[in-house]
Amino acid sequence: MRLTIYFSLFFLAVYLVALAIRRIIFLRDKARMERESRTGGRVIARVGELAPGSVKKFRLICQKYRLDAFLVNYQGSFQAYVNRCRHMETPLDFVRYQFFTEDGRHLVCLTHGALYEPGSGLCVEGPCKGLSLYALPVRVDRGEVIVGCPSGDLSHLAE
Ligand code: FES
Repeated sequence: MRLTIYFSLFFLAVYLVALAIRRIIFLRDKARMERESRTGGRVIARVGELAPGSVKKFRLICQKYRLDAFLVNYQGSFQAYVNRCRHMETPLDFVRYQFFTEDGRHLVCLTHGALYEPGSGLCVEGPCKGLSLYALPVRVDRGEVIVGCPSGDLSHLAE
């Protein structure tokens, strides 16, 4: 009986520490977002920073949610997507920072191999064919790439 109580207290303490860490990370990301905010979004990169075919991961605080996302330079134009496959709720880059297929023509989810068009986010091959990645609004202003929050209910996109 006493052992059960100790175990329960231990797991409660672990749970509370995990909640506290999660909250600290959220507040850190929120502060960073406020520092890097411009009208309508957060500055993610300078235009020259991302060569065509490259990707930059980032987090966005939208409403009360934190979104795991990535910015891609595809043939000179910028797109940003929530880093979540449309097949299952996993990030595309199961292997860190590997978003593109070897030939550079598609974004790939490494869990089951779904292929997405980098320019539109449309899944063209794999178990999510016909669905699209969740796009985030992107604009370029004075050499900075700014990504904004999508509108509507974001609870299903939160980390
Ligand atoms: S989770 Fe991405 S293809 Fe299955």
